[in-house]
Amino acid sequence: MTDLYSKIVSTGSYLPQKIYTNHDIEKLVDTSHDWIVERTGIISRHIADENESSVDMAYEASCKAIERSNLKNNDIDLILVATTTPERKFPSTAVLLQSLLNNNKASAFDVNAACTGFIYALDIADKYIKGGFAKNVLVVGTEKITSLIDWSDRNTCVLFGDGAGAVILTASQTPGLISNTIGSDGSYKDLLTVNTDTEVIEMRGNDVFKIAVNTMGKLAKKTLENSDYSVNNIDWLIPHQANSRIIKAVAKKINLSEDKIIMTVDKHGNTSAASIPLALDYGVNTGMVKKDHLIIFEAFGAGFTWGSTLLKF
Ligand code: COA
Repeated sequence: MTDLYSKIVSTGSYLPQKIYTNHDIEKLVDTSHDWIVERTGIISRHIADENESSVDMAYEASCKAIERSNLKNNDIDLILVATTTPERKFPSTAVLLQSLLNNNKASAFDVNAACTGFIYALDIADKYIKGGFAKNVLVVGTEKITSLIDWSDRNTCVLFGDGAGAVILTASQTPGLISNTIGSDGSYKDLLTVNTDTEVIEMRGNDVFKIAVNTMGKLAKKTLENSDYSVNNIDWLIPHQANSRIIKAVAKKINLSEDKIIMTVDKHGNTSAASIPLALDYGVNTGMVKKDHLIIFEAFGAGFTWGSTLLKF
């Protein structure tokens, strides 16, 4: 029997029209454009309209990915949506997306692993495809994360933005996804959290920063060590986009030069589970990411959760 792999055949993304620059945020809290750029690398972020939900954004990103895949909506047999900001408690965001897509063939469910959600969803998709349980999987990361922002808290309100990214994974005789690693440690549950009584992001930024750099650095190293590739083979690092200093520190830990990083945090801010598929689609649209490129995804989020994917595009 020949090996079966899952392969990303297309990407799509969506960003809301409204943009908040650092200067807009200067009007809300005691902060400055220079501080935000120096400490985070963020210059602006997109903000969803009041009546624009994570499902609406997921739909826009998914339509682009499906169109580019040359599949029909009903060819999709599994829909996975990574989100921490569902439009409803239930049905799931994935099921609401299925309805907008007029798809009546797929199973659909959400994955919540905070900012690592997209990598968790990819891991599930990969296993469904390798196991022969699905052929064409739509994997989406979508967040209206600004709905969880306290706009008077300067520690958090400068960091986040909204958006959605989508990929289509299909069964393939060649890789595709080469390896996928996910992990979590619930003992850090209070360092980055949204409690149901307050419904706003609370974060111990400094602690999160250090653990994020260490965890993603170690993970990237291990991912390469466990593969047939070295850092010299990597065309692109596409990490979770939370802070440019975190991203550069991770690249340094694996001796990867900074010009091999797809960096979108300056334009998008931290879009949680949407950040990796948004950055991937940005890489594709700008012509940086090309067919057969070797790519490593690295993610880290509340929990803590973490994940790493090595793939041939
Ligand atoms: N504007 C101006 N000053 C600010 C500020 C803001 N928006 N936010 C915090 N400060 C101040 C602090 O009050 C502190 O002042 P003090 O020294 O007088 O007490 C000073 O800046 C330094 O704060 P600190 O928290 O140590 O800054 P930092 O260098 O760690 O940067 C973050 C703060 C949030 C940017 C950084 O910790 C970070 O990015 N953490 C990880 C966040 C993250 O990735 N979260 C999601 C993970 S998925």
